[in-house]
Amino acid sequence: MSSNLYIDKSLTKVGLYKQIIPQIKSIIEDEDNLIANLANISSVVNTAFDSFSWVGFYLKDNDSLILGPFQGEIACTRIDIGKGVCGTSAKRNEAIIVEDVNQFEGHIACSPTTKSELVVPLVYDGLTQLIFDIDSEKLNNFDNDDLNYITEIIDLIKFKHFKNN
Ligand code: SME
Repeated sequence: MSSNLYIDKSLTKVGLYKQIIPQIKSIIEDEDNLIANLANISSVVNTAFDSFSWVGFYLKDNDSLILGPFQGEIACTRIDIGKGVCGTSAKRNEAIIVEDVNQFEGHIACSPTTKSELVVPLVYDGLTQLIFDIDSEKLNNFDNDDLNYITEIIDLIKFKHFKNN
């Protein structure tokens, strides 16, 4: 693993994703511990994007999601599958972009300043195994570019820790 992260903040959002994804690949390739890799991924993504206020993972634990590695303020430790944006994503096995959290019925407000949110699940064996949750204090901060690149990061985790596709 290379210990130096290189991030050029003058890049566009897509440019930043293209810069960090190969670095994430290199950071996780020699480490087989899932929690350690999720911890470093949350740090890289949080460092790259100033408009993200909370970046982290929840892992499936029976009928709920339990808080995993993250960057940001303290958060709810446990979310029932089917509840909130995270639990809904896990139940549907689908990513969710929330333009305005106040318009999402059942949104769980870990921070009152969060305005938009992106949740991408890692689905293996037909079940969500973990979710990647990103919050922003800007309304409508996430689009299909975020969805596609965060899905690429989820696929790297899946390839490394779950299965080879
Ligand atoms: N807003 C999420 C809860 C997790 S926090 O954003 C970190 C939800 O509605 O599931």
